[in-house]
Amino acid sequence: MTETHVPETHVKDRWPPQPRGYFAIGAERISKSRNLGNLMRSAHGFGASFTFTVGSRYIDDESYADTSKSQLHLPHYNWPSLDDMALPGGCRLVGVELIEGAHDLPSFRHPLRAAYVLGPEKGSLSPELLAKCDHVVKIPTMFCINVAMAGAIVMYDRLRTLTRFADRPVGEGGPSADDLRRFADLRRKD
Ligand SMILES: C[S@@+](CC[C@H](N)C(=O)[O-])C[C@H]1O[C@@H](n2cnc3c(N)ncnc32)[C@H](O)[C@@H]1O
Repeated sequence: MTETHVPETHVKDRWPPQPRGYFAIGAERISKSRNLGNLMRSAHGFGASFTFTVGSRYIDDESYADTSKSQLHLPHYNWPSLDDMALPGGCRLVGVELIEGAHDLPSFRHPLRAAYVLGPEKGSLSPELLAKCDHVVKIPTMFCINVAMAGAIVMYDRLRTLTRFADRPVGEGGPSADDLRRFADLRRKD
């Protein structure tokens, strides 16, 4: 199967399934363009409405890591500082950081309108940015993982928890064709 292959069953329904609302994702003071490109590519794949950076002056060309060319499909904002950050009204800012007091991601209810913000490769989200966050979540890992990887896990969790998928069978493997058909009917009624 090639990277761009979309199964026929997914063409009629929206793929990936999207919950109501929208989300954006970005990073503060990110410094490696391949990490930003990787994050933007995943954001595009998961159906983000826009991507952003805050205070990332040294980013040169993220395009070589973003082979999906997300900037052709969704807006990207480079906000020079926190004061320049302009989120749409009602959009909740969700910090993603491995810190004491953050909510465990598996126990977190995602806001329907959310902007997720990650920290720099060397360091953490600034206290100023954390103070602006409506929520902060942490991924249950022993230590910090790659920033783009952390972003992808958060986006997967959002999709997994806010949209419907066919139930997992009791035994190993995927759902049967019958179960999938029943589920497709249910989703159409959503
Ligand atoms: C590579 S980490 C930063 C390095 C880290 N502060 C350190 O020195 O150990 C980059 C960013 O990825 C995100 N991140 C990585 N692992 C995470 C986790 N387990 N939970 C939440 N965020 C995580 C955070 O946004 C973090 O600021």
